[in-house]
Amino acid sequence: MKNFSAVILAAGAGIRMKSSLPKVMHKLSGKPLVKWVVDSVSALKPDNIVVVLGCDSEIIEKYLSGVSSNIKFVYQKEQLGTAHAVMQTEKVLKDCDSNVLVISGDVPLVKSSTLASLIKSNKKTVSAVTVLSAEVENSFGYGRIVKNNGFLEKIVEEKDASVAEKQIKEINSGIYCFNKNLWKALSKVKPNNAKKEYYITDTVAILRGFGKKISLIVVKDKNEVKGVNNRAELAQAELILKDKKIKELLDNGISIIDANNVHISYDARIGRDTVIYPGVFIDTGVSIGRSCTVKGASYITNSKIGDDSIILYSYVDGAVIGKKVKIGPFSHIRPGSVLRNNVKIGNFSETKKAVISKNSKVNHLSYIGDAYVGEDVNIGAGTITCNYDGINKHQTIIGSKSFVGSNVNFVAPVRIGQGALIAAGSTVTCDVPSGKLAIARAKQELKRKIKL
Ligand code: UD1
Ligand code: CA
Repeated sequence: MKNFSAVILAAGAGIRMKSSLPKVMHKLSGKPLVKWVVDSVSALKPDNIVVVLGCDSEIIEKYLSGVSSNIKFVYQKEQLGTAHAVMQTEKVLKDCDSNVLVISGDVPLVKSSTLASLIKSNKKTVSAVTVLSAEVENSFGYGRIVKNNGFLEKIVEEKDASVAEKQIKEINSGIYCFNKNLWKALSKVKPNNAKKEYYITDTVAILRGFGKKISLIVVKDKNEVKGVNNRAELAQAELILKDKKIKELLDNGISIIDANNVHISYDARIGRDTVIYPGVFIDTGVSIGRSCTVKGASYITNSKIGDDSIILYSYVDGAVIGKKVKIGPFSHIRPGSVLRNNVKIGNFSETKKAVISKNSKVNHLSYIGDAYVGEDVNIGAGTITCNYDGINKHQTIIGSKSFVGSNVNFVAPVRIGQGALIAAGSTVTCDVPSGKLAIARAKQELKRKIKL
């Protein structure tokens, strides 16, 4: 959607967050607030995206430059209000003969399609500004939409509102589309209000005073324009996202036993007939196949899990897991773990940068790191890959159909051939050829008991 520029306001101190981190860098479902807004805006491919920075600008600029190369930054040295913030973008945008979408960096849930309708509507009605509003039950803290004979007259902030205006339930979302009259209107804004700030909201009455057309559109889903000013509102936004996700999953054939007692990230992909039990936390970057069971206090992030797998009370991060895999209870699957079909990882076992091929089992109390384990291998209880020599990490390779007895240490680098048998209690320091039995432990001695 060409022919508009976007201004994202992110210079405010965010005092109400009571944080050393700038407000717009606080994360909603793992993604900074400002990135949510940048993503919704970017999807519309504007001619320019300008972010206004002020307090702690370095952190925000560094982050945004790392995730997008299309953003221009301007700086508002003193935070004199939202109109003053937009004024700082004039030097970048004045010559663009297009509409300007102004949006706060703290309204993360707005959809691209809503922004597109706002811009289209402003163009179609040939308005100087179109304000996106919402009807809410509790309008406290928001700017109120004041109407005269049903038409938008002005926006009044909480601190400046009369008792009657405070009753108004229609609020300003902080999202507007202006035409090029914006710059003229901004030059007329005065800090005549309780906070002594230059308010962007005053441009509405100013443009009306110029005899220009000012318009309003009401967002269908009020949750989209939820502003985040404090921790309570951040938690509410999190809940809105989660509830939406849970509804989507329930509608698509996924069972969630107790929706109030799980966290499922907005980007999770889950197949039908999978059952999510209470206590599960599915963080960002997760895809789970069909007919899986995820049970108990399991945490999963950045992982792909195949159909018919079961995860019980386990921590899974950065793993690729095949079909019919069983993990847990109490397993730790760390980044770089690849568990192929039918693998079993049992209680108190940990894997890291390890490929465990199909049908293999690591059932109890083991650590398998920097390793390749072939097919149909049984790893006995308490087996450890000693992968770290204090400076470097080394590989352990265990061939298919090998049987590793309990309490074995593999001192890496070490290579075990196919079908080998490693005796329980062995500390393996040399390679074992295929088909051999390796015993690497002190011989048992039997001695006469000393009588006391
Ligand atoms: C603002 C609106 C209010 C609206 C609400 C919607 C004004 C005066 N009020 O109130 O009508 O209902 O959003 O969420 O605009 N910022 C700057 N520089 C400044 C001040 C603020 O860049 O000098 C940025 C902030 O970082 C923030 C945005 O502007 O992203 C809005 O500021 P904020 O203080 O959160 O305004 P609200 O009180 O929420
Ligand atoms: Ca706000």
